[in-house]
Amino acid sequence: MKIKIIDKNKKDFLDLLLLADEKEAMIDKYLERGILFALYDKDLKSICVVTDEGNGNFEIQNLATYEKFQGKGYACKLLNHVFKYYENLGSYMYVGTGDCPWIVQFYENRGFIFSHRIENFILDNYDKPIFEGEIQLIDKVYFKKDLRQA
Ligand SMILES: CC(C)(COP(=O)(O)OP(=O)(O)OC[C@H]1O[C@@H](n2cnc3c(N)ncnc32)[C@H](O)[C@@H]1OP(=O)(O)O)[C@@H](O)C(=O)NCCC(=O)NCCS
Repeated sequence: MKIKIIDKNKKDFLDLLLLADEKEAMIDKYLERGILFALYDKDLKSICVVTDEGNGNFEIQNLATYEKFQGKGYACKLLNHVFKYYENLGSYMYVGTGDCPWIVQFYENRGFIFSHRIENFILDNYDKPIFEGEIQLIDKVYFKKDLRQA
């Protein structure tokens, strides 16, 4: 298994990026300024995009694993790598996500705690309703993790 930083042709990863963020125009807002980490286990399995938000704060903008390979620990391995990468570079890693119980649990289990909520963000910024299973995603909920405790 290896994890690479991708500098060029980041749009080649669009199929994975769209799994976590359905609107390409939203991806365009962070892809070029972000660091794209790609995990390969023979083939590409997962990606993570992290941006520098200033003042020692970083933000996971996108995290996705191909559906066929979900639940095998790839995203967790990639996140651990990302936490190590940023450990001495700043204070907090943020992530903003839809308010869906299992995704919230996923981040809480990785040491993130609630930070803040932007009401109606998903409703207002995406062209069509977005669902995770039966749940319509309305707000964007932010979590943060202390990088020094990575
Ligand atoms: C979220 C996502 C990146 C996880 O990737 P993954 O490689 O399957 O994750 P891992 O196998 O490393 O992690 C397994 C953990 O995720 C949980 N999980 C993964 N998919 C899940 C699902 N569909 N429902 C419930 N829990 C799920 C597992 O219960 C496990 O949690 P735990 O270890 O805290 O008990 C992946 O489901 C995905 O790409 N989803 C679509 C894009 C997305 O929603 N991205 C997150 C937006 S911020």
